[in-house]
Parts: sequence; structure tokens; C-alpha cells
Amino acid sequence: MNVEQLRIDTPGVEHLIHFNNAGAALMPEPVVQVITGHLQQEARLGGYEAAAQCAAELENVYAAIGRLINARPNEIAVVENATRAWDMAFYSLALKPGDAVLTSMTEYAGNYIPYLQLRQQRGIEIRIIPNDEHGQVCLAALATLLEDERVALVSLPMIATNGGPVQPVEQIGALARAAGVWFLLDACQGVGQVPIDVQKIGCHMLTATSRKYLRGPRGMGFLYVEQSLCQRLEPVFLDLHAASLLTAHSFKIRADARRFENWECNVAAKLGLGAAVEYALAQGIEAMWQRIQHLACYLRHRLTEVAALNPQDLGRVKSGIVTFSHRHNSAPGVQQWLAAQAKRINVSTSTAGSTLLDMQQRGLLEVSRASVHAYNTEAEIDALVDSLIRMSHA
Ligand SMILES: Cc1ncc(COP(=O)(O)O)c(C=O)c1O
Repeated sequence: MNVEQLRIDTPGVEHLIHFNNAGAALMPEPVVQVITGHLQQEARLGGYEAAAQCAAELENVYAAIGRLINARPNEIAVVENATRAWDMAFYSLALKPGDAVLTSMTEYAGNYIPYLQLRQQRGIEIRIIPNDEHGQVCLAALATLLEDERVALVSLPMIATNGGPVQPVEQIGALARAAGVWFLLDACQGVGQVPIDVQKIGCHMLTATSRKYLRGPRGMGFLYVEQSLCQRLEPVFLDLHAASLLTAHSFKIRADARRFENWECNVAAKLGLGAAVEYALAQGIEAMWQRIQHLACYLRHRLTEVAALNPQDLGRVKSGIVTFSHRHNSAPGVQQWLAAQAKRINVSTSTAGSTLLDMQQRGLLEVSRASVHAYNTEAEIDALVDSLIRMSHA
């Protein structure tokens, strides 16, 4: 891994230390150039004309995402964000009264709210898969829950927004497939951080965002839907891109995953997402995952030197999202203190509202979240830890 080059490509690291990669990572320069270059073309040529000129590059966005997750380009829809990708998949499943959804303790509130909405509207059931002793999905419990034929869907995040375990998604996928149950994987915090192969995982649908570990622009995300399922799912929203009007009385929905998209989109950001995927692939996802794990492990180790901190990470396999709470300071207080350092340090606060089941079970209202990426360094981690030690003495 050429860390020096990664940092040259990331000019933001000169004036700040960014540990909010689980919020939105710093975009590398090649990605910024693609976005700004396209905006300039739009200003010079006109939006439609600029898009026509880069039709091949726009097609390549699907191919690049396909390479990233081992899917076919026609199984990918590019949409505004991970939530919209997830909504398009979830609401299209047409769950019926009595159908049960299995999810994890670590479920993201943005996904849990739609479960509750369909429970209210249609009478679906929500069942929570208990954790095992490591704090990850208990596979034995999942296998038992899957014996009930009312279970229609397994749906959970690969990595929770507040840290926690990297879920054993391949084993979960194998169990769901064996039971003939759909598996919708929220890989929002996983894509760009962990190698992802939808064939190995066996998920039927997967959702992701551009701005986090992929280091792409904000306001972009994507949805993967397995080819054989795609045509069986009717999107809840249709427009003249997702479908075509054949006569005054008939329309036809397109066959590929782009049936989940809509026509108007931020073309510059879409190209930026493609550039971010290409950039990540050029670094090597496996190499980045190794480095992220190494840095996160170093950070967790160094945080043990700060007496006032309680580590809050669970799981057999932990991700680059490192969480902790401070015995004497609130998480926003920690965030403000770090942001006020001579060289600003960005961390974030994850509140109970984002991952309510998990946080309530652990009696937590909030945690501080320092999420490392491959372009971070040990020296930056030392600066973070030194600032936290100074905070305890202030
Ligand atoms: C696990 C998880 N799922 C989904 C989302 C939603 O992503 P987006 O804001 O791109 O819709 C997030 C955002 O933090 C997340 O952490």
C-alpha cells in the first residue's frame, strides 16, 4: 500500500486529521477532478450535451461497481444514497400480512423505521436475531428463526453505523439461501472498507453509499439486485427511465436493475462515484482492509492509555469504526475539543437514535466514533490519543 501516494492524493490531510470516514471520508483528488471537470463541461456545453459526451464513462460506472462487488453491470442501480437504494429494494418486496423480517440488534434506524411502517400498514412481523457472546448475530439462533416459514426476509447491516462487529455475512447468506428466504444486506459501511463479493455472500440485494469508505461524493449510492430477482420486484416508484410508456393504456418496466433508478440525477456525482470505485480498486480493497484493521487495532490499543475512556466496540471481527465513551465528557464535548486542536481532528458522535436496539441494550445514549481509513497514519492516531489525554487533564 503506497500510503504516501494516498496522502498526496488527499490534500485535506495537510490541514486536518480526519477520523470521520464512517460519516463522509475525504475525497481523493482524482475523484474531485472528475466531478469538477464535468461541472465545467455542463457550464460550457449544457447539462444534457455534457452527459451525452460522457455516455461511455457513465456506462462504466456500472461496470466498475460490478467489479467492486462481483456483480453484473445490469444488476446495479445508481441512486441518491444508501437509504433510497434500501427503500427501493425493501418496499418492492411486497411483504404481506404475517410475513416476518429478521434483523440484527445492530440495525440502522433508517431501515428499522420502514419495518415499523409496514408493520403498521400491512401487519408484517419484526423479529430480532439475538447476539452471540461476541456481540454479533448468533448463527444458531438465526438458523432456528429461519425454520418458521413465515420468515420472508433477512435484512441487516454488515457493519453498524456505531461500530460493532463485521457480521458473518457469508454464513448468514448461506443460512438464508438454504431456507429460501431473501437476504437484503446493508453494506453502507462495508463497501470500500471490506472486500465484498455478492456471489460469496449470497445476498439477493445489497445497498451502499458513495461518501463513506468508498470516498466518493455525497448524494450518491447504489443498489445491487440479483438478476433472477430483479424482474420479480416491481419498484414502488416508476418514471420514464425505469419504465416506458407504450400506449395510452400500457407501460413496460425495464428488465435490468435500473428499474430502481429515476431519470434525473447528479451526473457529475455519478461520474465521481465511478471514479471513486476505480480509485479504490486500483489501491486494492484487500490491502486497504488490512491497513484499516491495522490502524484500528493500533488506535484501540492506544486508547487503553486514556484512563477516562470506555471502549465500546463489540465483535469477533472489528472494523475501522472505533467507538468509545468518556466518563467525564459528553460525545459532542469530545468532538468539539478535538475539533479545536491546532491541527483540527474530526471525529463524530453516534447517538442512540441511529442504532436504538443496540444502544438501548447496552445502556448507551451516545458514543464517540473515530473511524480510520487507509490514508490515516499512526502519527495521526498518536495526535488523537495525546489530545484525549490532554482533555482528561484540562
Ligand atoms: C449502516 C448504515 N446504513 C445506512 C446508512 C444510510 O446511508 P445514507 O445516508 O447514504 O442513506 C448509514 C449512514 O450512516 C449507515 O451507517
